[in-house]
Amino acid sequence: MARSPWRKKPISLFEAEMKKSELNRVLGRWGLTSLGIGAIIGGGIFTLTGVAAHNNAGPALALAFVIAGLGCLFAALCYAEFSSVLPVEGSAYAYSYGTMGEIFAWIIGWNLILEYMMGATTVAVAWSGYFEKLLHQMSIDPPIWIMNDPVTSAAKYAQIGEIAPSISFNLPAFLITWIVTSILVKGIKHAAKANNIIVIVKIAVVLFVIIVGFFYIDTNNYHPFIPKQIIDPDGTSHYGWSGVITAASIVFFAYIGFDAVSTQAGEAINPKKDIPFAIIMSLIICTVLYILVSLVLTGMVRYDHLDIKAPVASAFEAVNLPWATVLITIAAIAGLISVMLVMMLGQTRVFLGMAKDGLLPYNLFGKIHETYKTPYRSTILVGLIISIVASLTPIDKVSEMCSMGTLLAFAMIALAVLVLRYKQPDLVRPFKVPFLPVISILGVCFNVFLMIFVRKETWIAFLIWSSIGILVYFLYSRRNSKLNDWEDEQEALKKLNSENN
Ligand code: ALA
Repeated sequence: MARSPWRKKPISLFEAEMKKSELNRVLGRWGLTSLGIGAIIGGGIFTLTGVAAHNNAGPALALAFVIAGLGCLFAALCYAEFSSVLPVEGSAYAYSYGTMGEIFAWIIGWNLILEYMMGATTVAVAWSGYFEKLLHQMSIDPPIWIMNDPVTSAAKYAQIGEIAPSISFNLPAFLITWIVTSILVKGIKHAAKANNIIVIVKIAVVLFVIIVGFFYIDTNNYHPFIPKQIIDPDGTSHYGWSGVITAASIVFFAYIGFDAVSTQAGEAINPKKDIPFAIIMSLIICTVLYILVSLVLTGMVRYDHLDIKAPVASAFEAVNLPWATVLITIAAIAGLISVMLVMMLGQTRVFLGMAKDGLLPYNLFGKIHETYKTPYRSTILVGLIISIVASLTPIDKVSEMCSMGTLLAFAMIALAVLVLRYKQPDLVRPFKVPFLPVISILGVCFNVFLMIFVRKETWIAFLIWSSIGILVYFLYSRRNSKLNDWEDEQEALKKLNSENN
């Protein structure tokens, strides 16, 4: 029988699977919110704020955070509605499988690999940067070639007028990935406890930056709030309103992670209520913190003097508080680990959802460890890939791929929520997106709009990635989909019924 790529997974199948979940249900609403904040606050606020203010938005960085945050809020509301209807670990992938069809779901799942895997990779590289800064503060300066990928290493050696050795490798990024992998293999319970502690440290430091930094604000630094526009020959826009939008597309990365909460449905005690709560709450908390941090930062240091690599830590150096710089560096090192933890966790749970549906090999992606109750094989595979990519690739390449995949997944989810409302209006929805279809349409437009601002090279890499995904779908996933058995059963039942009549 012909297998349509547009076939949908019946909601009843999801419900049956939820009952059979082998994962431990240990997470409450604040535990989930903590996971969300753990995934959100990271490389974005600790590093990208510098680039975005210095190069693109000036003091209007706060405005860029408002714009990006608003766009994420549209997507978050849609995620919340879906997770209240279908609290399953596959997240956006599973939601679209139940509403838009298998191929649509596959494309989302394939993009979530970019979001979670490339997100964790970006953060591993950012972690290495902060770790290097800490070592430097302790007067330890390891050779460039064991702290950087080959491209960055060559550039750094060129800067000091030396020839780079033939091997370069980001060893800290490699090692931190394996540390996080081993925590995850042992299980979410221990990981969640460690994560809670890290999240508290992270929020404390962000509050510290806001409160202490407030006293060092010089309001002259806010003028001009949106500096005059300059356009480079390559079309890159600095300052002016278009600079603010470019900055929004950069700091968008800082918000990524709230959706990772929805991949924890299998481990949530009361997923239908607590997951929507945690998604929205973690996003709101982080948006407020981000806006305040950016106002403080651009008030402390003039935008064109902001450090690009470690802007938050360096701002305190600029106002003569070196001890605060050390404190922030240490907190960033701890904080980035929790981002990796949740991103990698999210990735393995999306794989688990896809493997259960037969779209990925179950033995590799679905097998649960008998003692730890975790998908250990897929966790190790994810760790392996991230550790290799992180040790060999520059940070901007991976972060842009991450944003690209996420933007498309967000746009698709905003569309899917609307489709489900019209197709199945009577479905019980413990959480409903307000003002539909407006929020949905805004969600699609906003995320597609930001995709336009991503560089051409990233678009090409993204199109290649998507083509590989489509090939895998038609060569493997469609043939092995569990829906094949279900469709065959339905067909047989129909035949039996018509024979009996
Ligand atoms: N939002 C996460 C970060 O900023 C991905 O690191």
